[in-house]
Amino acid sequence: MITIEHLSKEYRSTQGQRHVILDDISLTVPSGSITAVVGASGAGKSTLAKCIALLEKPSHGQILVEGIDLTTLSGEALRRQRRLIGSVFQSAALLQRKTVWENIALPLQWLGVVPHQILSQVNQLLESVGLSDKAKAYPAQLSGGQQQRVGIARALALNPKVLLADEATSGLDPEATQSIIALLKRLREEYRLTIMLITHEMEVVRQAADAVAYIEQGKIIQFGQVGHLLGCPDSLLASQLFPLNPLPSSKPIEVSLRYTDKVVTFDWISRLGQQGISVDILAAHLENIAGCLVGRMRIAISPSIGFDTEEFVRQLKEWGLHLDNPLSVLSLQEAG
Ligand SMILES: Nc1ncnc2c1ncn2[C@@H]1O[C@H](COP(=O)(O)OP(=O)(O)OP(=O)(O)O)[C@@H](O)[C@H]1O
Ligand SMILES: [Mg+2]
Repeated sequence: MITIEHLSKEYRSTQGQRHVILDDISLTVPSGSITAVVGASGAGKSTLAKCIALLEKPSHGQILVEGIDLTTLSGEALRRQRRLIGSVFQSAALLQRKTVWENIALPLQWLGVVPHQILSQVNQLLESVGLSDKAKAYPAQLSGGQQQRVGIARALALNPKVLLADEATSGLDPEATQSIIALLKRLREEYRLTIMLITHEMEVVRQAADAVAYIEQGKIIQFGQVGHLLGCPDSLLASQLFPLNPLPSSKPIEVSLRYTDKVVTFDWISRLGQQGISVDILAAHLENIAGCLVGRMRIAISPSIGFDTEEFVRQLKEWGLHLDNPLSVLSLQEAG
């Protein structure tokens, strides 16, 4: 688990001016979860990762990894705790003159691990990331996605509890991105990893993350569970994460609704049909998250004569559907 409390980071320019890069960041990444950090270029995402990886010293605040405050450590204690955190960055930063095997072995050699143990560990890591056949290859002979896998294997060499991935899928084609996402999800299970995934790709967040934090100018301006955000049409993140895809159709009354955390009656559309109310789906984004259907939908309803708006609103509620603006539906009755 990573717990960040009131973290700030400032740089001073050569003229002595203060530049606040991270401003009072508090964030918890639970054990075994994947939390994404998104935001525009320059928002402070990498600076946050560097602070957690102890590559930069925070100006204020605390960072606890597995309950230990890293900001207070130094010397041997710091070196030991640093091993709890593995990181992988966009350009995997592999040593070009060393083979894949040697790149992954490096952190173990620095640590003075005995050769036969290095051998078995590196072989196992190579297998984990699906590159056993590339052990003797040099980085330049690998694709971007494969290099990224080597970077991930190296980051895991010291058996960390936390993996920081800063733009680990940037610049990869969709297929390579998919396989890195699948790998991270599998490694999270296999090594019980806590993963912080820094990315500017919303698709990656949608597919991989449990929770997401949105950083703007060094502040977290929104945070939520991905499954929950999907059902919140007003949230900044939801509109970026799950844009509604309009279908070419338009019918008399448009209604926006969302699937609440109640179990929604699965055949509600055909039930309305039986009452003579036909439903057209104009746009929808629904997903099965942990066995529960969540998301949003915009529908057009063509009511039959004698359509009872109050009854309609009541039924939807009973079926577990939340109308975004019930009053606008109810006012139809009066207008009609
Ligand atoms: N060592 C430094 N000294 C001064 N300013 C810095 C330093 N490192 C980063 N910054 C500034 O901090 C801000 C945030 O940088 P950071 O690299 O964290 O952004 P980012 O969100 O990762 O952006 P990107 O999406 O482009 O990677 C930028 O304005 C950058 O210029
Ligand atoms: Mg960055």
